Amino acid sequence: MSKKVILNSSEVVTCSGFEAKSGTTMMQINPIKNGAILIQDGYISMVGTETEVLKTIDLDDYEIIDAKGNTVMPGFVDSHTHFIFGGYRAEEFSWRLRGDSYMDIMERGGGIVSSVRSTRESTLAELVTVGNKRLDSMIKFGVTTVEGKSGYGLDKATEIKQLEAMRILKEKRTDIDIATTFLGPHAVEKQYKGKEDDFIDLQISEVLPIVIQKNLAEFADIFCEKNVFTIEQSRRFLLAAKGLGLKLKIHADEIVQLGGAELAAELGAISADHLLQASDFGISQLAAKKVIATLLPATAFSLKTDYANARKMINSNCAVALSTDLNPGSCFSNSIPLIISLAALYMDMRIEEIITSLTINGAAALSRERETGSIDVGKKADIIILDFPSYHFLPYHIGMNIVKTVIKSGNIVAEN
Ligand code: NIG
Ligand code: FE
Repeated sequence: MSKKVILNSSEVVTCSGFEAKSGTTMMQINPIKNGAILIQDGYISMVGTETEVLKTIDLDDYEIIDAKGNTVMPGFVDSHTHFIFGGYRAEEFSWRLRGDSYMDIMERGGGIVSSVRSTRESTLAELVTVGNKRLDSMIKFGVTTVEGKSGYGLDKATEIKQLEAMRILKEKRTDIDIATTFLGPHAVEKQYKGKEDDFIDLQISEVLPIVIQKNLAEFADIFCEKNVFTIEQSRRFLLAAKGLGLKLKIHADEIVQLGGAELAAELGAISADHLLQASDFGISQLAAKKVIATLLPATAFSLKTDYANARKMINSNCAVALSTDLNPGSCFSNSIPLIISLAALYMDMRIEEIITSLTINGAAALSRERETGSIDVGKKADIIILDFPSYHFLPYHIGMNIVKTVIKSGNIVAEN
């Protein structure tokens, strides 16, 4: 049996809880001054003040992890990424700098379908190789659980190839957990323009059954957006996926107010993501139906748009999660420090709310709130140690990574 103890912390920010936190409860991160944590076989078996914890054990039986007077907190959960893709779109970024919009580029055949072309050309092994590299980088930022979406295939073979790449990574890597999402309806290729319904039919009749049969995804997602997929098409696809046992996510109200938030609430989705343009009614519905509002500030930053109204969402009693949206187009970043800076400086979020959004609420956005996302007895020991003695140092360091040690299921997997 493996027994470890984390000692000499300045504080253990537990974020304790087994469900998403909404509204004012997002402020509750429940720090314990000079806390200590016992870990048994990869799971948390006790958390309390160091005095309390030391009373219950014979220290000789334990391997000590020394927090050296610093803050200990749950590992981050990055609950919305597109980290498996082939190729790059650096030229598009430069086109945007000279004034082209993201949707203009998409409409003239660039954007997502450009990554679709290079992902189709990539072999499974190549996707696994780039996926591995990107996961390594995430872990350095303290991410212990990540979500990854397909959606750069659109056709059956490539959608399955992307999901297979994630399955291989999931089986191989013990230093990060991966949740997989099938995002077949992510864009419309030229030959389906005006025939989006046929494309949705194809996804439902040909791709979805294989995803289910091979057990390749936990969630289904769609890009519900003007000039991409309508509310009606999104409802049809998501209901089919739900009928086959997948949980739901939606790229909702990102560029235009289409009613994606309302649809997410109607369908009982786990999360609605982006939400820059969500209506007040949509926000109230997310709160009422306990759909996690996943906000992606680095995408707004990268596209130079306004940020989602996190303050209104929290004041309306929503549970907000924050995530990077790492992808080759709208936001090529997996930087958690950037998310923290943007949320603190431009979204009027308190650091406690930001921490909740990146831990327990991120876990809830992946239906893992009972397994990870907080330091509670029975959960996986997914823990990070900062290089500073207070969680207030997180937003104070602008875009800087202050994560020192990353612990996944009780094992140290990165030391910066
Ligand atoms: O979440 N908005 C749609 N999908 C992605 C972007 C994908 C891409 O540009 O490659 C997003 O921003
Ligand atoms: Fe996305």
